[in-house]
Amino acid sequence: MTPLSIDAERLLGRIRTLGSIGRDADGRLVRLAASDTDREGRDRLVAWLEEAGLDVAVDRIGNIFGIWRPAGMEDAAPLMLGSHIDTVIDAGIYDGCYGVLSGLAVIETLKAAGFSPARPLAVAAFTNEEGVRYAPDMMGSLVHAGGLSVEAALATVGTDGTVLGRELERIGYAGGNAPGFLTPHAYVELHIEQGPVLAHEGIAIGAVETLQGISWQKVTIDGKANHAGTTPMAMRQDAGHAAARVVAFLRERARASQTPTVATVGCMAFEPNAINVIPARATFTVDLRDPDEARLREEEAALAAFLDRLAQEEKVAISVERLARFEPVTFDARIVGRIESAARARGLSHRRMTSGAGHDAQMMARIAPAAMIFVPSIAGISHNPAERTEDADLVAGANVLLDVVRAMTAEGASP
Ligand code: GLV
Ligand code: MN
Ligand code: MN
Repeated sequence: MTPLSIDAERLLGRIRTLGSIGRDADGRLVRLAASDTDREGRDRLVAWLEEAGLDVAVDRIGNIFGIWRPAGMEDAAPLMLGSHIDTVIDAGIYDGCYGVLSGLAVIETLKAAGFSPARPLAVAAFTNEEGVRYAPDMMGSLVHAGGLSVEAALATVGTDGTVLGRELERIGYAGGNAPGFLTPHAYVELHIEQGPVLAHEGIAIGAVETLQGISWQKVTIDGKANHAGTTPMAMRQDAGHAAARVVAFLRERARASQTPTVATVGCMAFEPNAINVIPARATFTVDLRDPDEARLREEEAALAAFLDRLAQEEKVAISVERLARFEPVTFDARIVGRIESAARARGLSHRRMTSGAGHDAQMMARIAPAAMIFVPSIAGISHNPAERTEDADLVAGANVLLDVVRAMTAEGASP
């Protein structure tokens, strides 16, 4: 193959430009799904897709696709690249955006080089991958893959009381295409690792072969408000204390297990939330993950048993709502092999690995051969404004994606 490379300056410049969109008064990057700042980011992306001469399509759940359909390939399934451009609260600039903008860079490079792909190419930006405002996460790709009806997804009520469908209409991204209208031949997602493995081992490229299972639950504990000064400790029904015991239980159990299980309580609220009132209610989320489905079920069962015991001991009522549940995923071995070959051919160190984070690729793997490429995250930091990847690593990952795409769209190639 004649060597080709993506335009590094353009890719890095676009990552920075997109990362400047959606800053709040304190300078924090917040582009929650279907918000005003998400609209600004989407508008910027669509302008770039149009400048690249791609056909832009938006589906009913707001997924954006930029499609390069060479003449005569009207009905062929595309090789799809992509990720997401929504963010968490106080985010870094690479999570998701890197994959979408690299997908665009790959298509632009191939078009400019006069490459004739054996099938169309598409880049996707899926709605609400983060799941911060509306659960579950990976929602746009889940709907695209047929795992959740578009009606149910659009009716989702957010953490701020908004309804996703109305918000998508309001920001102008309730598209007309039926979700799943563009079935991919295969799907490849490039992403920062968001964990410490590659940086720690000094390896440039991760060929992601598995992705761990994810369980999200919302727990509500109802106790009784009472006076903080007058109520003896033995007479309390303290929802706040009960919630704290769950946090400690999850952490201690995961740490003691000597397994890859991870457990996080990332959101918590007390009511009435006053310094001198025993909390009447505590609401919090539980994020449990494990690469092994049987073990993830055991962890869920252990939490349920603990909550039963806690309700008795603390004299509180506890209810649990399931927000998301996704089993571990095994990616397509042929694509994983192509990623390794592409890294090797460029002289880049590489290793197979599992993904600790959730990704749109795990949904696309339900309907097409799929895999992911990771690049190192400095110090393994992500979902944090300090999230960073060296420019050279970003460019290397995009060039590996380029080579994988060339190989997968060569005449006669299977995934
Ligand atoms: C997505 O960012 C996740 O929570 O893994
Ligand atoms: Mn992401
Ligand atoms: Mn993320």
